[in-house]
Amino acid sequence: MRVRVEAAREAFTRLYGPGEVRLFFAPGRVNLIGEHTDYTGGYVFPAALTLGTWAALRPRKDGVFRLVSTRFAKGARFTRNEVRFRREEGWANFPKGMIRELAESGARLPGADILYFGDLPPGAGLSSSASLGLVTGVALSALEDRKPTMLDLIQMVRRAENRFIGVQCGIMDPFASGMGKAGHAILLHCRRLEYHHVPLNLGDYRLLIIHTNKARDLAESKYNERRRECREGFHQLRQQLPEATDLGGVGEEAWQEAQDAVKSPRLRKRLAHVITENARVLQSEQALKAGDLHRFGELMKASHRSLRENYEVTGRELDALFDAAIQVPGCIGARMTGAGFGGCTVNLVHREAVKSFRQRVGEQYFAETGRQAVFHATAIGDGAREIREGEEREWQCW
Ligand code: GLA
Repeated sequence: MRVRVEAAREAFTRLYGPGEVRLFFAPGRVNLIGEHTDYTGGYVFPAALTLGTWAALRPRKDGVFRLVSTRFAKGARFTRNEVRFRREEGWANFPKGMIRELAESGARLPGADILYFGDLPPGAGLSSSASLGLVTGVALSALEDRKPTMLDLIQMVRRAENRFIGVQCGIMDPFASGMGKAGHAILLHCRRLEYHHVPLNLGDYRLLIIHTNKARDLAESKYNERRRECREGFHQLRQQLPEATDLGGVGEEAWQEAQDAVKSPRLRKRLAHVITENARVLQSEQALKAGDLHRFGELMKASHRSLRENYEVTGRELDALFDAAIQVPGCIGARMTGAGFGGCTVNLVHREAVKSFRQRVGEQYFAETGRQAVFHATAIGDGAREIREGEEREWQCW
């Protein structure tokens, strides 16, 4: 990584001229369990990755923003008074949405030249967009006298995606990116925004992320459809449970008694997923605390099956990866992670089995789908921050 950081400083200087450069980072995330629960006010259990988005920044004084990415050909230039969504500007709309939020919060916004670079595979469901928004927020708020808190920035990223980009996502992705801690997962209650870090003592096991190499084309429309279904199902459920304030707060027992209030079998399946998934998150935390990795792995598998059968967001590729993974000795847990319809799975694999796991899953996946699976050995890293001199050295292993 060090090489890439130095290369980015050089690239920044080539692009914008010599002078001081500050560096900021916001990680991507993997969700270990608790999928499609955040927008119902339930529990999630994500962790920040060491992969993410960097921003090299130099402040300006004229209120102008120039944004360039090493990944995409087209950049953007605008002033703080003309921050508008422009479809043709693609990726740059994410930082723009964040700048709009900062402006609305009263930030001074003196302007900046920014060069973005990153090592998250785009479109893999590892939160490249949340990390792009958050790194912009962290970098630009470093120039302000009155700095927003990390929680403020996290909420701004979510609002920017909801209002500026038009994606109705929940709070999980920016929260994991902002509050991550190396070696820990985050147990977050998404309505109360209460959280704590849980040490990931995985012993001889490793977390492997596998990318299906499939574009998540249905993700957006189906995502919004699932959100609607949850709202509708919950509305019906409340006939039996009038005191319930949100779906995330409905426990399994109450559900057993009240589920007949939901007339449509399709909506019943959606709600059954959310309610059982919330319970699995809490059980996972207990299993990890007790050092029972096999139990945690079983909960991961149950989560995938529920996302496949009840929530119907997996699809052929994610299911092929899951089915191949759980047959390999040494793999004790697997599930899709993120919104679904493509993207990645996360797998819990004994370190001695990693090599055979990669080979067997790769072969079987290719035989079934004609696609090459991409494997990412992950480390769980810290949340968004400014990168100081010297910290770069820690990244050499990447
Ligand atoms: C996407 C959204 C998150 C969350 C997950 C599903 O990643 O951005 O808010 O809803 O899907 O768990």
